[in-house]
This record gives sequence, structure tokens and C-alpha cells, in this order.
Amino acid sequence: MSDLIARRRALLGPNVSTFYDDPVHVVRGEGVWLWDAGGRRYLDCYNNVPHVGHGNPRVVEAICRQAAVLNTHTRYLHEGILDYIERLTATFDDPLRTAILTCTGSEANDIALRMAEAMTGKRGIVATDATYHGNTALVSHLSKSNVPEVGFGLGQYLRHVEAPDSYRIADPDGRRFAAGVQAAIDDLEASGIGFAALIICPLFLNEGFPAQAEGWLRPAAEAVRRAGGLLICDEVQAGFGRCGSHFWGHQKQGVVPDVVTMGKPMGNGHPVAGLVTSAEIMARFRQSFRYFNTFGGNPVSCAAAMAVLEELQANDLQANAARIGHLAQERLQALAARYEVIGDVRQSGMVFGAEFVLDRVSKEPASEYADRVVNAMRARGILLSKLGRHKNTLKIRPPMPFGTEHLDLLMDTLDAVLAETPVRA
Ligand SMILES: Cc1ncc(COP(=O)(O)O)c(C=O)c1O
Repeated sequence: MSDLIARRRALLGPNVSTFYDDPVHVVRGEGVWLWDAGGRRYLDCYNNVPHVGHGNPRVVEAICRQAAVLNTHTRYLHEGILDYIERLTATFDDPLRTAILTCTGSEANDIALRMAEAMTGKRGIVATDATYHGNTALVSHLSKSNVPEVGFGLGQYLRHVEAPDSYRIADPDGRRFAAGVQAAIDDLEASGIGFAALIICPLFLNEGFPAQAEGWLRPAAEAVRRAGGLLICDEVQAGFGRCGSHFWGHQKQGVVPDVVTMGKPMGNGHPVAGLVTSAEIMARFRQSFRYFNTFGGNPVSCAAAMAVLEELQANDLQANAARIGHLAQERLQALAARYEVIGDVRQSGMVFGAEFVLDRVSKEPASEYADRVVNAMRARGILLSKLGRHKNTLKIRPPMPFGTEHLDLLMDTLDAVLAETPVRA
């Protein structure tokens, strides 16, 4: 293990993060389980990339079958990409009927922002102050974690709005958030840069997945449309049935975005990502930018992505997400009744978690406690993580075939860890 860590440092450079104080060396995965090099089994409660389960046989078979026949790029004619896009866009509302396939969510977001520039002739982008949308030169500016001196000066085109926080900031109908968006739009317009797009994860999953009533995003969407900009929903984490009640997070929020980007779960680990938009926006983008992606939309990626959609449907995994999410919320609320440190419980289908606070009145975040809980869970064989605005929210986001027996093991273990972990170290 220490040898691997030293080799990583030597070969990958410093500041390359790993999960957990004691990183896990995984060698095999199956369904919701992972095994380490010593043969120990872990319950994977965090990995949203193997959406339909690690090593899913349908996806593996589809990849192998297509790889054995043909893999090339989109300058040749091939049915695979067309069949897939037809099936994918059937899950969206009108007019979202065209798509570009990429290899990463970052690329998809980069294209979405360039679509906004092509449509509006402007460059100003609004995002939340606790987000992450990827790693291209343009997109990396959306998160605040970079050193401001670098980044080709693209930071000038960005304005941050306060991320929603249902536990601390009262905003039941989304009007406060919309007012923040409006202020950012006004600032961009006054600066001469102009407003091109609002980009958000519709469920604010990196921000700590605040509780929101259905339709919460409508006022912000109206502000965007009034200003002539594009609403870009980044569904890299939220999409493909994870929220249980809807196939896409934006559908839960009651809005039809101009562009929806997606990635992570799309190919169950095979690197396929993309975006869906209207024919009008697609045409304007294609006229403005000559776009080609060597690997994006190749036949093997499309076969993998198609198998994911088939698997979701065949096993009714969206309904499973709704069912498990509901049960998880009940179990977490029962824990909150016994452990003062749980200030709030949140759930959006197969994404659920608890916010830890040092004091329920002041709501002071217990970020360091959350770290200790995450590491104690790992020591007991349960993999999960934490994030949110204050880095104090447990984020539990397992593969979609997660069942009640897995939930019981997770919650019983969490109960034991909360009982043995002192709130102040
Ligand atoms: C919401 C969101 N958008 C975009 C990305 C970037 O995706 P990728 O790593 O595939 O470029 C991520 C990755 O963590 C993400 O969480």
C-alpha cells in the first residue's frame, strides 16, 4: 500500500487526491460491492459511475460484442450513435431532440457554454459558489478552488451566486435564489460582458443537495429567459433516474433547460458523456464552431450507453431509487432523533445524507466530525463521502441496484459509528 502511494506521488505528481486517510486499493467490483487487494469486501455507497452496478454483465457484454466487431469515429456512418440518441432524447421534453456525445462531462459543459456564446453573442456565465462542473480551461473557472492568478483570464466572464442551503437559508419557492441570479445577470450586463448562461446542477448535488419543493428552479429559469440567456442543467450526477421521482433532475425542478449535460453514469464507467439540446441551438453551435471529437460517440461507447438505458428499464431501477431513498430518509430521521449531531436529513432518491452540526441552534458545521465518520465507516467496510457548502454533509450515492439489505447494513453501521465517535475529538 505505502509503495503504491509513493509510486503515485512520483508518477502522478503532488496534490493528487485519494479517498480516506487509509486509501482503499480496490481490485474488483461486482454489483454494489468492491474488493480490495487483501480480499476484503466493501459496500460501495458512493460510486455513481457504475450506475447499474460494478461489472454489470449486460454492459460488459455490449462493450465486448461491439469492440470485437468495429470501433471507429463519427466521420463514418454508423447506426449505433443514432439509435442511442433517439432512445436518449425520448427521455426528454420537447424541444430537446439533438445531442453531441463526448468522452467527459467537462467537455460537455465546455460545449454547452460555447453554445450559449454562439446563441447570445455574449460570454457572461453565472454559477453557484460551491459547485464543480469539470476541468477544461473555461469550465474549471466555475469552481472556486483554483488559484485566481491562472486560467487564461477567463475568470472575468464568471459571476458566482450563493448556493442554496435549505437548512440555513429560507427560500421555499426559489425566489431568493432567483434574485441572486438576477443580480449576477445585471452585474454582467453593466460590466459590458453581457449574460450568456446560468449553469447549475438541478439538484445541487455538489452543494449538499438542499431540500427543495418541486418547481423550485422556475423563478431562476424565468430570470435567465427574460435576460435572453441559456439555462444549462448539468446532470452529470443528477441524471439517469437517480432522483427516483423523475428520470432527470430538471424535470423534478419543473423546468425545461436549453442544454442538458451528462456523463458519469452514462456508460457505467466506460468514458461516454454528452449533451442534449434543441435543433436550433445545435445548428447555431455547429455553424459557429467546427466541432469534432475523435472518441466521442464511437460505436463501443454507444453500445455501453445503450446497455445502461436498457438495464435501467429492465430492472426498473428508477423506481428502486425512489423506494430506497424513501426508506433511507426514514432510517436517517430515526438516527437524527437519537444523535444531536445530525442537524438535518436530506434525500433525493438514491442520493441521501445527513448534515452534521456542533449545535442545532447555531447550526455550526461539524466538518471535522464528518471526516472522522467517513473514515470510521471505511474502517468498517462501508464506502461513502461528504461534501456540501460546509463540507459537513454525508453524501451517500450508491449504484442504483442498491437494495434494502444493503441499506440495512449501511444504516446499522452508521448507527454504530455515530455511537462510538465523539463529536469533539
Ligand atoms: C456536476 C459535475 N459536472 C461535471 C463533472 C465533470 O465530469 P468529468 O470528470 O467527466 O469531466 C463532474 C465531475 O465530478 C461533476 O460532478
